[in-house]
Amino acid sequence: MEGDGQHPVPPALPGRPQGQHLQLLLRRSREAKNCAYCPYSRFPVGAALLTAGGEIFSGCNVENACYSLGVCAERTAIQKAISEGHTSFRAMAIASDMGDHFITPCGACRQVMREFGTDWDVYLTKADGTYIVKRLEELLPLSFGPEDLKKA
Ligand code: THU
Repeated sequence: MEGDGQHPVPPALPGRPQGQHLQLLLRRSREAKNCAYCPYSRFPVGAALLTAGGEIFSGCNVENACYSLGVCAERTAIQKAISEGHTSFRAMAIASDMGDHFITPCGACRQVMREFGTDWDVYLTKADGTYIVKRLEELLPLSFGPEDLKKA
């Protein structure tokens, strides 16, 4: 499903942000990107996470001279929200500087997102603000989550 940020095409599913709320979420992801600490990759990413209660937590990628310690924007946003007591999420928007491609979360981030449910939305944007929206289930099909630990 695609939208241009002005006239979103995706259907209005329950819980899906719309209109000005969606624009704010998209804007907060772009603003977070401006704070990215990425001197090694020079690939800034921003994320904005909408909680069930309507709050937005944003995050950027934070790299390290010990490369493997770098953290993605999506996980920064999730860790900020969780550490402030929020565990129920409606949507996340992700922004990068890529003009011709929608930014897509890495596999590790998809698994961390999935920890908090499979039925929420991720807005993948291009630098011009156009986006596609995917359910978590689409981004990580046949996933393993907390419920599965009870099945053995
Ligand atoms: N990165 C993110 O923060 N999110 C993504 O969705 C893709 C990649 C970061 C990790 C690293 O700091 C840089 O982008 C290059 O991989």
